[in-house]
Amino acid sequence: MKVRINEVGPRDGLQSQGKTLSVADRLKMIEALVGAGIRSIEAGSFVSPKAVPQMAGTAELFPQLPKPDFIRYSGLVPNMKGYELATQADVGVVNVVLSVTETMNQKNIRMGLDETARVCADIVERGHREGTQVQAYLAVAFECPFEGAVSSDVVSRFGRQMNEAGASKIIVADTIGAANPAQVRRVLDGVLAFVPSDKLSCHFHDTRGMALANILASLDCGVREFDTSIGGLGGCPFSPGATGNVATEDVVLMLDSMGIDTGIKPLDLVPVVRETEVLTDVRLGGKSFRWLSQQFEKQAGVTGNGG
Ligand code: COA
Ligand code: ZN
Repeated sequence: MKVRINEVGPRDGLQSQGKTLSVADRLKMIEALVGAGIRSIEAGSFVSPKAVPQMAGTAELFPQLPKPDFIRYSGLVPNMKGYELATQADVGVVNVVLSVTETMNQKNIRMGLDETARVCADIVERGHREGTQVQAYLAVAFECPFEGAVSSDVVSRFGRQMNEAGASKIIVADTIGAANPAQVRRVLDGVLAFVPSDKLSCHFHDTRGMALANILASLDCGVREFDTSIGGLGGCPFSPGATGNVATEDVVLMLDSMGIDTGIKPLDLVPVVRETEVLTDVRLGGKSFRWLSQQFEKQAGVTGNGG
């Protein structure tokens, strides 16, 4: 079995950091991720630099990214202006975000739910016409920080709408890390009635420590792609209380231990976590990081070349 890891640290991770990285440092981080075997990366967002200063300069970043054929980059856009900036920057894949509640859209992008759904569908349809893949995130799909519980019917309805508009992928996102495995099964079952499993991906935050369990539940439902963030970097400036995305090294290690191929060696992620710590001035590392670091040091001792 193969699973695709989509690294979102350079966007979801960095956007909530106190320290704003230069474009050159963001590039360094992405080069380290690529060097560790990561093949799918959300590299940044095309948003208002007033709203998210950490993502200013994304249009300059994209053209500088290392672009071997096998790498897939994506960039997040909140509106049609973002789509235009992204396609001008040769982004590869565009991500739109449809939060499934009214208040979350208002707080995040200053549009209501209906308007956001319309704008997302317009971007998806335009991408379809112009030969640009557009993926649709369904944000706060399990719980909204402002409105609380979210009905799984609402998630299925928007999943169906984005799929019918021509989205290349539907990503069910637990933006604040509130989901549990039973709820994951329920929500995914609903979405799977309208969206085939090979077009689904999941995005979990580890706020309550259940992200790995939620990934396992999603795997059981047939999902074969997950968003992760190196070292668990992250949070969300627009979602009070959300902590980082599930750590890339935790997911890769769990899947690798289960004999599931991600194309990434868990130990190769150790230096990337460390480099990202230096760049961001944040202490990082998922649940497995201490153990992985010990294994990394052991291996380095054997080979005598730093691993
Ligand atoms: N990229 C860059 N600048 C943008 C933009 C985009 N996609 N969309 C709008 N802008 C600019 C406008 O040109 C305008 O610039 P000006 O002040 O120099 O004239 C300014 O932003 C305000 O435009 P307006 O249409 O009035 O937007 P707003 O103030 O209502 O803000 C968003 C709406 C969507 C632009 C802003 O809230 C945003 O970028 N949010 C992103 C939030 C985010 O990234 N969340 C996390 C991921 S989901
Ligand atoms: Zn997120």
